[in-house]
Amino acid sequence: MGFLAYADGVKLEVLKYPDPRLRKKGLSVKEVTDEHRTLVTNMIETMYDENGIGLAAPQVGESLRLLVIDTRPTDDDGKPTTQGLTDLEKQVKQPIAIFNPEIVVQKEATTYEEGCLSVPGFFETVERANYVEVKGLDENGKEILIKTDGLLAICLQHEMDHLEGKLFIDRLSFVKSNKIKNKIKKTGYPDAEEVAEERQKVRELRAERAKSVSAAKKAEAEKAGKK
Ligand code: NI
Repeated sequence: MGFLAYADGVKLEVLKYPDPRLRKKGLSVKEVTDEHRTLVTNMIETMYDENGIGLAAPQVGESLRLLVIDTRPTDDDGKPTTQGLTDLEKQVKQPIAIFNPEIVVQKEATTYEEGCLSVPGFFETVERANYVEVKGLDENGKEILIKTDGLLAICLQHEMDHLEGKLFIDRLSFVKSNKIKNKIKKTGYPDAEEVAEERQKVRELRAERAKSVSAAKKAEAEKAGKK
């Protein structure tokens, strides 16, 4: 399907917390139509334009069970690469558009510093399943099953929360969640520059963490090799 190779749609407005439309549950899509496919193209365009890795239809004011995702990192020219993706992630063709997503299997737990285009400039650690199998319909209305771990698994769960009217800040402790919500209500969102700075900080933190995890794994493997 050529139209998903890269998006050349229209950039949509991304709603921000506390917009009440983010709290509505998305409706199931009975049949995937051309109108839906146009929405998919526009959502992918919007996601790329905002430097996001996922976007759910309720975030652009459409109360539908639809999400788009592309977790691939980009190289210096802005081209997507598979660097750092897990073996399972590499097997999934991205960008993904999935209607009526449903988790059929989930295993183990992991944490990640999550952010959201609807809560720009805020990042917090959230716990999710480490491995998921998600079924749904693709942009042609064909049934698909995605089996993945890594960032893609986390992102799928984050976006599926949006379809229930739920945001990642709802998953934090009561104190942390209220602190963020009150700050937004009182002083609004940081400007674009600050959001970019915060995003960079989180990226570095994640890279450091990935390094220490792989170093620990290497040490473990060496230890096992010596036995
Ligand atoms: Ni989000």
